[in-house]
Amino acid sequence: MAITEKLKKIFMKEGKKINKCLFPAAGYGTRFLPATKAMPKEMLPILNKPLIQYGVEEALEAGITNMAIVTGRGKRAIEDHFDISYELESQIKGTDKESLLTDIRNVINRCVFTYTRQIEMKGLGHAVLTGKPLIGNEPFAVILADDLCHNEEKGILKQMVEIYEKYGVCVVAVQEVEREEVSKYGVIKGEKVDDNLYRVDFMVEKPSVEEAPSNLAVIGRYILIPEIFDILETLPPGKNGEIQLTDALLELAKQGKVLAYRFEGKRFDCGSVAGFVEATNFFFERMKS
Ligand code: UTP
Repeated sequence: MAITEKLKKIFMKEGKKINKCLFPAAGYGTRFLPATKAMPKEMLPILNKPLIQYGVEEALEAGITNMAIVTGRGKRAIEDHFDISYELESQIKGTDKESLLTDIRNVINRCVFTYTRQIEMKGLGHAVLTGKPLIGNEPFAVILADDLCHNEEKGILKQMVEIYEKYGVCVVAVQEVEREEVSKYGVIKGEKVDDNLYRVDFMVEKPSVEEAPSNLAVIGRYILIPEIFDILETLPPGKNGEIQLTDALLELAKQGKVLAYRFEGKRFDCGSVAGFVEATNFFFERMKS
């Protein structure tokens, strides 16, 4: 049976609409110290908008209105951002500054936000597992807000939701990186099944250049099926002593349930100073034009 038909068969069993997006946002953001000492990395602004709001808007564009956020100590500003600020709003009501709040008001009106806290920062896989009570037993999207993605016509998550709707298995976003950069990422090996689409058969977290099975690196956008939680629950710590999402995905990949999608668009690693500056310049130029 052709691979795509096999995938479609799995989808018939598991396919469901994506209603929720999980935002793991509990990490320490050490690459951005001292800025992130008392402020969440996710609240760093590109122009006048915090990273996490870009992420929420991307999820909204993909048809998702339920935002599930995994926070941690020192991250309360995220909850305050997605809430009304009565004093501030009454101060600027009727002035020309009021328009600056249009986008965030729109987000607040259209979305439902739920939160939980990760008590110990044991890695991305652990953060996703911490979000299980907010997600329940359904497929869901994941956005790492420090990976800022942009496509003028169709957002990256929307592209991925469309793939999920066709195949009904996990979808991870990948991009080609320089060979020397692979050790910063999860890296996949896969068989091409369609344009820009690979069925993953192996993946490894932060490999050395020699170990890396390709230069296709996983970036911070995922569509996951709920089986991932069962795997994460029993998964031992992996690279750097952390519970790695990549290791859990490898288990699903062995069952043919992970696709890697080479997305169309731009991605900025805003967890690093260089990526953050690049994103700032890009969005500033775009605003001016
Ligand atoms: P990163 O490794 O990029 O984020 O994790 P970090 O640990 O905050 O940053 P550095 O490396 O120290 O600078 C990827 C994503 O996973 C979340 C982070 O918030 C980020 O969005 N994360 C990571 C958690 O929520 N919990 C964790 O235990 C680890």
